[in-house]
Parts: sequence; structure tokens; C-alpha cells
Amino acid sequence: MLRNMSIRKRLMVILSLVYIISMVGAIAGGYYVFARDSLREAKEKTELFATVMSANQKFMAQNVRPDIRDLLEDEYFPEATVGIVMMSEASQIIKEDYPEYIFKVASPNPLNKDNLSDSFENSIIAGFENGDYEEWEGEVTKAGEHFYATAVPIEASKSCIWCHDTPEVAHPEMVEEYGSDSGYGYEVGDTVGGRFIYVSMTASDALTMQKLASFGGGISLLFLVAMLFIDRIVISTVVKPIEEIVTVAEDISRGKMDREFNIKGNDEIKLLADAFNRMKVSLAKAMDILRK
Ligand code: HEC
Repeated sequence: MLRNMSIRKRLMVILSLVYIISMVGAIAGGYYVFARDSLREAKEKTELFATVMSANQKFMAQNVRPDIRDLLEDEYFPEATVGIVMMSEASQIIKEDYPEYIFKVASPNPLNKDNLSDSFENSIIAGFENGDYEEWEGEVTKAGEHFYATAVPIEASKSCIWCHDTPEVAHPEMVEEYGSDSGYGYEVGDTVGGRFIYVSMTASDALTMQKLASFGGGISLLFLVAMLFIDRIVISTVVKPIEEIVTVAEDISRGKMDREFNIKGNDEIKLLADAFNRMKVSLAKAMDILRK
């Protein structure tokens, strides 16, 4: 197929093929690198978020809860004594500025119905119960949104029982707030839920696409400029000189022996023109001899 084309066309077809192959390679490679970067970024964000949350919880457990217990023995004050309550509330405040961070303490048996685990969370919690993994991390799509997520199990210890045993034992204020049909029946050692952190990757996915578009655009522009440049060079150094040789050769064949193959430069085409000039001289001599 290439053989039947003009030099210019042939070169453009080859360059276009190189362009397409480079483009596919660059886009695939670029996607891999950019997607890996945005996943790494999401992991770092998640780790930082989890560390801050745990630090707050630890601080409360070590420095606030013991004093509150001493000072307000019979008082129901979960905001200062229950880590999960504190973290859920804090995460709501964080969400006002960073809606892409979702913190959820999910349980299939929750006091607060907002904490009811969905089917994805149930499957992860079931994995914790079966001992399939001790922690979970990965990507998940929920309601069409792409998230990087991590989860750790929440296990019931002795300290949880007085609130999560039976509604009769729990503080009446708590039962009044949350009802008595769910969130109870904990036994020490049970996996009662999971702490899930979701970081939305929608924005970074869009950024990846944007980066890919500029990357692809840059490569295309580069190729376009290169192709135009190469085309110009091919026209001036190959196509035009060959056309010139053809015209002169045709003139000579019609008897205009005064025509000269006149090519500038110092390349193969110049050698060809010189060879033709020598041939013309020999031809002229041969014809002179014949005429005599
Ligand atoms: C002082 C009472 C109290 C204690 C002690 C307590 N919790 Fe809770 N827990 C609550 C309340 C209240 C909520 C609801 C928080 C909310 O509104 O989001 C809750 C929520 C939870 C949730 C989220 C699902 C749900 O029920 O809404 C889990 C899981 C949980 N607690 C586990 C534990 C574990 C494990 C412990 C022991 C380490 C513990 N809790 C100790 C009162 C308590």
C-alpha cells in the first residue's frame, strides 16, 4: 500500500502511525501514573484523617472521661465519655469544610439509625467476624461516587456493656433518645461494627482526566508541529528538486539540449542531478558522432 503513495503521503502515513502508537502508549502510561498518584494521595488523606480522629478519641479516653466520671457520676454525658459519639459529631463539623471526607461508625445493630451499615459495610464487617482480615482498605463505588475507603473493626469490651447491653440497664436518657429496639445485646468480644473512612476520589478522578487531556493535547501539538515541519522539509529538499529534474529531463527529451539539471545542496538528489548532467553531455557527444 505504502509503495503506491507519493513520498510525502507515505511519510505522513508513517508519522501518523507513530503518532497513534505514541498516543496510546502515552495515555495508558499517563493514566497509570496519574491514577496511582491520586490513589496515593487519597491514602495519605485517609491516614491523616484517621490519625486525627483516633488522637481525639484517645485524648478523651485518657484525659477527659475519667474526670467526667468522677465529677458527674450519674450523669449521662456521651459527648464527653463515648468516643464514637465524639468522633461522629466531630466528623460532621469537618464535613462542613471538607465534604469529601466521610466518617462513619457503622453497625448492623445501631442505636442511631444513621449508623446502620449498608450492604457494602455489612460485607466488610462480616469479613472481620470471619477473621478474613484485620483491617480493610480499597476502592468502592457508592451511589455512583468513587471512594477510597478504609475500615477497622469495632469490638465490644466490658466498658461498652452498660450502655449497649439491654435498654433496662442503659441510662434512661439514652434509651429515650435512641429507643429500645436496636443497639443493644452486645457481648464482650463481639464485632459490633466497623469504623469506616471514605475519601471521595471524584475530584481527583476529574483531575486525572484533565491531566491526561493536557498531556495528550501537548503530545498532539508536538506531533502536529513536527509533521508540518517535516512536510515543509520534504517538499523543499525532495519533492521540488525531483519535480525540477523531471521537468528538465522532459525538456531535454524534447530536444532542448541547453537545459541543465541545476540542484542546490549536497545530498543524494544533487548527486543524481550531477549524474544526469554527465549523462546529458555523453548523450550530446554520442548524437554529434551519429550526426557526423
Ligand atoms: C455511655 C454510653 C455508651 C458507652 C459506654 C458505649 N457506647 Fe456505643 N454508642 C453510644 C451512643 C449514645 C451511640 C450513638 C451515637 C450516635 O448518635 O451516633 C453509640 C454508638 C455506637 C456505635 C455505632 C452504631 C450505633 O449503635 O449507633 C457502635 C459500633 C458502638 N457505639 C460501639 C460501642 C463500643 C464497642 C463501646 C465500648 C468500647 C461503646 N459503644 C460504648 C453509647 C455508648
